[in-house]
Amino acid sequence: MDYTKLKIPNHIAIILDGNGRWAKNLGLKRSEGHKAGYENLKKLCVHILKTGVKYLSVYAFSTENFKRSEEEVGYLMNLIAKKFKSDAKYFMENNIKVVFSGIRDNLRKDVLESMDYITNLTKNNKKGTFNVCLNYGGHLEITDMTKKIAKLVKENKLDIDNINEDIVNKNLYQDLPPIDLLIRTSGEQRVSNFMLWQLSYAEFYFPTVHFPDFNEEEFDKSLIEYTKRDRRFGGINYDKEID
Ligand code: FPP
Repeated sequence: MDYTKLKIPNHIAIILDGNGRWAKNLGLKRSEGHKAGYENLKKLCVHILKTGVKYLSVYAFSTENFKRSEEEVGYLMNLIAKKFKSDAKYFMENNIKVVFSGIRDNLRKDVLESMDYITNLTKNNKKGTFNVCLNYGGHLEITDMTKKIAKLVKENKLDIDNINEDIVNKNLYQDLPPIDLLIRTSGEQRVSNFMLWQLSYAEFYFPTVHFPDFNEEEFDKSLIEYTKRDRRFGGINYDKEID
């Protein structure tokens, strides 16, 4: 693939959907789907940042995902606790900075330790940022940002008239640029409370493959599609107008 001929988004977000269905289709347990999903994500993250994308955000676990069975939540938490320790070297070798968005409440100690370990280890890496949304909800992020800003105003650290979009962005879980392309695998066409502030002008792409099968080739198709999109950000592209 000649990436120089493609438009490369600065920030891509992926809703990792379909691990369960992928496993079911193969007669496997749902946990096998999550395992395959993680292994795919690990490789895909390196590929995506190699194409020139600078930020990759993924929806690994929503605050609502705690409603799933104890067995499934336990499996996912074990996976997170284990992999962000054992694969920390891999992210270092690939010069990737790993950050997390979400709340720490209700997360197990070993999960928090693993998250803190990889965050600290990779903090100076420069190839790109891998933002893992874990115990994350979009409304909650906006609510928490509002509380942080209200506190700054109350403590006289910020004048109410100086609140602007930049201040809002800086008080979200991570200070990230806007999302250019949102991908949701598995054919579902919903945002599901994911990065609502950051998605304002994102292009949406909905491949039908389940996440464990969303490999480099499938991802490259999303770049081809993104290249065809005419982004206007509420304006008009007069060069392209037909009538
Ligand atoms: C959605 O598929 C997927 C999840 C809720 C978890 C995503 C997690 C991973 C890919 C692995 C862990 C990731 C990290 C970063 C450690 P689903 O289970 O809802 O699938 P279904 O809709 O087919 O049931």
